[in-house]
Amino acid sequence: MNDIRTLFDEAEIAGRVAALGREIRATVPADVVLVGILKGSFVFMADLARALDRAGGRPRIEFIRLSSYGSGKQSSGDVRVVGEVPASIRGRPVVLIDDIADTGRSFVRAGELLRAAGVARLWTCALVDKPSRREVECLPDFIGFTVGDVFVVGYGIDHAEEYRHLPYIGSLD
Ligand code: IMP
Ligand code: MG
Repeated sequence: MNDIRTLFDEAEIAGRVAALGREIRATVPADVVLVGILKGSFVFMADLARALDRAGGRPRIEFIRLSSYGSGKQSSGDVRVVGEVPASIRGRPVVLIDDIADTGRSFVRAGELLRAAGVARLWTCALVDKPSRREVECLPDFIGFTVGDVFVVGYGIDHAEEYRHLPYIGSLD
C-alpha cells in the first residue's frame, strides 16, 4: 500500500462541487447533457448532476469510454474512443466531464469527437486541473481544483484501478 496524502477532504469536495453546479447552471442551458469520461468521472458525475439539480438544472447523463490509460502513471498519448458516441447529444448543449486535465489530449480528442457527432455547443469541466502538465492547448471552462505536478487518486480517480473508492482526493507518492 502506497502512502496517500489528503489534498481535498469530503467537506471541501462537497462545497466545491456545489459551487461548480451553480457556475455551470449560470452558464449553460438547463437541458444540458453531461457527458462523462469513464471511469474516472463516475463519482464526480453523480455529485455534479445533483448539484446542478439543486441549482435549477435538469441535465441528461451520458458516458463515453476512452482507450485505457494503462497501469502506469504516464499517458500513452494515444487517445481513442471505445464504442460509439451517444446519438442523444446531437443538436444539444453538452458539458464534457473528466476527472483530470493532464496533458490535455483526452479533452481535445473527446471534444473533437463530440463536435463531429453534432453537439450544438460544447463546454468542458475537469474536477482536477494540472496546468503545468499540459502538452496540447486545453483550458477547461469549469475547474474543480487546480494542483501542481502530483499524481492524484480517490473520488473516482485511480492508479492501476485502485483507490477509486476513496471518499477524498489525495496525492500518491
Ligand atoms: P490527459 O489526456 O493526459 O489530459 O489525461 C487525462 C487522463 O489521464 C485522466 O482522465 C486520467 O485518467 C489520467 N490521469 C492523468 N493524471 C492522473 C492522476 O494524477 N491520477 C490518475 N489519473 C490521471
Ligand atoms: Mg480518465
